[in-house]
Amino acid sequence: VEFARTFYTDTTRSMALAEQAKRVAAEFEFGQEHVRKAVKEFIREMDEGLQTEGTELSQIPTYVTAVPNGTEKGLYMAVDLGGTNFRVCSIQLHGNTTFSLTQSKIAIPRELMVAKTSKELFSFLAKQIETFLKTHHEDHYFSTIKRRKTGDKVKEEEIFNLGFTFSFPVHQIGINKGLLMRWTKGFDIADAVGKDVCALLQAEIDELHLPVRVAALVNDTVGTLMARSYTSPGKTGTLLGAIFGTGTNGAYVEKLDKVTKLTKNKDAGEYDKSTGEMIVNTEWGSFDNSLRTLPNTPYDIELDEKSVNPGIQMFEKRVSGMFLGEILRLALVGLLKDPNVPLFKDENSSDNDVHSTTQIHEGTPLFKQWGIDTSFLSICAGDTSAGHRMLRQTLDKDYGISAVSAEDAEAVREIAAAVGRRAARLAAVALAAIVITSGRLDTLSGASSGGEVAEEDIIDIGVDGSLVEFYPGFEDHVRQALREVEEIGEKGEKRVRIGIAKDGSGVGAALIALVAGRVLEESG
Ligand code: GLC
Repeated sequence: VEFARTFYTDTTRSMALAEQAKRVAAEFEFGQEHVRKAVKEFIREMDEGLQTEGTELSQIPTYVTAVPNGTEKGLYMAVDLGGTNFRVCSIQLHGNTTFSLTQSKIAIPRELMVAKTSKELFSFLAKQIETFLKTHHEDHYFSTIKRRKTGDKVKEEEIFNLGFTFSFPVHQIGINKGLLMRWTKGFDIADAVGKDVCALLQAEIDELHLPVRVAALVNDTVGTLMARSYTSPGKTGTLLGAIFGTGTNGAYVEKLDKVTKLTKNKDAGEYDKSTGEMIVNTEWGSFDNSLRTLPNTPYDIELDEKSVNPGIQMFEKRVSGMFLGEILRLALVGLLKDPNVPLFKDENSSDNDVHSTTQIHEGTPLFKQWGIDTSFLSICAGDTSAGHRMLRQTLDKDYGISAVSAEDAEAVREIAAAVGRRAARLAAVALAAIVITSGRLDTLSGASSGGEVAEEDIIDIGVDGSLVEFYPGFEDHVRQALREVEEIGEKGEKRVRIGIAKDGSGVGAALIALVAGRVLEESG
């Protein structure tokens, strides 16, 4: 790739580059006023979504009306579809906040994500369940399969209740019934839209005569919330489960009487009203699709225009792992196109071991859509070595850009940090809005004093996903932004506990299958 070159002396070059990097980084600033405005808009959209169908924030009622308390027991199955892997697991809940989990993980073939028919995908999933049963529950599988095939009865207790974690927006009309609203995260199979995804899976399971009943349909965020509540039951129970991974979304505990659209919906199935609560899946990936308060740089615009779903999932496109690498890539390419910007044009890269000219090799992923992986942002954020050695090595090894000077690496690091920081501050908007509307900030027991927050005053949030897990400093940025929100401040921020809920989609789905299984058995 050839670029017009402008020649600089070493100092003017460094200064010009630093200035340009600052300028681009500043485009990603999302300051206190922006955060506060977005929180207000988020609260408005939450409210609107609870009352009406078809709003930006979908606010999907999940039919799950209670969070677990750690005493639940039994053997369940769960499957998880929603990212790059399909997972099948069986979970033994021990009833003492612990569990054991057996699982297998299969990469979903790319062609199945965009298959012609949903049958191709769902029959693949059912086959994975069959393989799992044969491998890990051999006796059970062979003892029931014969009878199933010959039409003999299989006892109720011989049927596995399965929780189906399906992490896409689904219009749920019952605990194990939901119509796919739209695909996200690169999946695209037209004939599945509008269909009941549980029925699609059950049909394929039945074709294989497996002793498995799809008992519950679960979003990964709901699973995360349930798993967190089971493993760390605080005095108040977990408020929110959130995913910051390939996609981003959150599910929280809402007062049932605020979910008014449920009573207006003629298709709505039965649910237990005794707890007065219901978990709501916000689908916050689509928060503010109309860009009232979201930032919108030229890079965001280009990313969206070239995506498979322009105009939707606008929050997700600024926050989650699938997109951050691409935002950074577009920002860097923007700089490289400008002949006056000296990025990667060092004729005399004196900070390197070898005295040589920076080179961008033919075929570098830098110039291909999705060419930069979000893990690169994590490397940038984590590289504290002198002269950003790790960052430069990665540019060389993975991106074909060699002999990068320390100044150039610093410019890349600064812009990458700005993209990551903006994502975390946006994430904080969602968390803040939900913490505020929950009303939990308004009650404070006498037990907290000084700097110590008592257990009953903790507001618990369970999180999962590659970004929270691997991006250095993500939580620190989130917390900084939380403190800037008037209603939360330093005091409120201290009360928020954010904890990783590993394997949420498995354990959480099992927990919901447990409750759902009881209901299904009772109703015959
Ligand atoms: C996407 C999906 C949502 C899921 C999230 C995290 O936003 O639409 O259902 O929870 O990704 O996986």
